[in-house]
Amino acid sequence: MKTIQQYAQIIENEIAKLNLDKSPLGLYAPIRYALEAGGKRLRPVLALAVADAIAGNCEVAMNQALAVEMFHNFTLLHDDVMDKADVRRGRPSVHKKYNESTAILSGDAMLTLATQLAVKDCDTSTLRPVLHMFNTTAMEVYEGQQYDMDFESRNDVSIDEYMEMIRLKTSVLLGCACGLGAIMAGAVPGVVKAMYAYGEKLGLSFQLKDDWLDTYGKPETFGKPVGGDILNEKKTWLLINAISEDCDGIIAGVLGKEMAPEKKIATVREVYDRLGLSERCRALELRYAAEAVKCLDDAQLSAVPRKFFEDLALNSVNRDK
Ligand code: IPE
Ligand code: IPE
Ligand code: MG
Ligand code: MG
Ligand code: MG
Repeated sequence: MKTIQQYAQIIENEIAKLNLDKSPLGLYAPIRYALEAGGKRLRPVLALAVADAIAGNCEVAMNQALAVEMFHNFTLLHDDVMDKADVRRGRPSVHKKYNESTAILSGDAMLTLATQLAVKDCDTSTLRPVLHMFNTTAMEVYEGQQYDMDFESRNDVSIDEYMEMIRLKTSVLLGCACGLGAIMAGAVPGVVKAMYAYGEKLGLSFQLKDDWLDTYGKPETFGKPVGGDILNEKKTWLLINAISEDCDGIIAGVLGKEMAPEKKIATVREVYDRLGLSERCRALELRYAAEAVKCLDDAQLSAVPRKFFEDLALNSVNRDK
């Protein structure tokens, strides 16, 4: 096994080799801009590490790793339009750097490029399961994104609904990254399932942390402005609990009201702090990271890879970006 940083570096090198330096520039330059911007590369790292753990060779899942990173970045182009988010990875998001039409069409192209990458190197035994997992995951991500948007205008969203929404919009793609890595490594179905389950549980912890960072992170390290979820009235775990526990009516007095953005963010955050929601959210992130690790019991891993995936789960909870 290599380190997380080494797998991420392999992905950086492979992304640089993708043939995207072509015309029309209006289509391809934004794709390069989006891909070169240095995200964490978590999903392709998962795909490579799973393949390495099972087959002793990460190369077998290289194109599938690139596929999930390409797909992820496609969703970000569209997500930033949907969320009216002007900054990503510390730079203008694609619709700000270029325009909304560009974010839509370059995003569409990235989805197709992702599908092409997903099926590369597949043989008769891997093609069907890979395409099935990839397309099922894609549809689930769209369902999750629709729930996320629907929930902005609802104030009665339950924690169960929230957990299912983040499972769909975020977790299944981490599951898919692990699953594709396992399939390409020739794993038996039980191991594919266990690694998918690891990624899926990790994804719940990961999105809870993303939501936490959107309120409590530092914009310089997080790379995204802090407070956007509050302004969009995203029904995060923090806000849902604040709605139900805030007896003073402060949250009720804020939702749906016109207010100066800084004041709205500070007011909601004070309620979170008063209710101890930051610490409780962190405890839940740890719980789902532990559930992810539990899934490894069925993955037939030896000690070194097991430790790798345990550390990765903990890393995700302790991240600041
Ligand atoms: C952002 O994903 C979108 C979520 C699902 C939270 P990442 O936090 O993995 O973004 P990058 O790729 O590292 O920038
Ligand atoms: C991300 O959710 C889910 C997808 C992009 C599919 P967010 O909207 O919270 O992601 P960020 O915070 O913009 O990265
Ligand atoms: Mg969003
Ligand atoms: Mg967003
Ligand atoms: Mg977010």
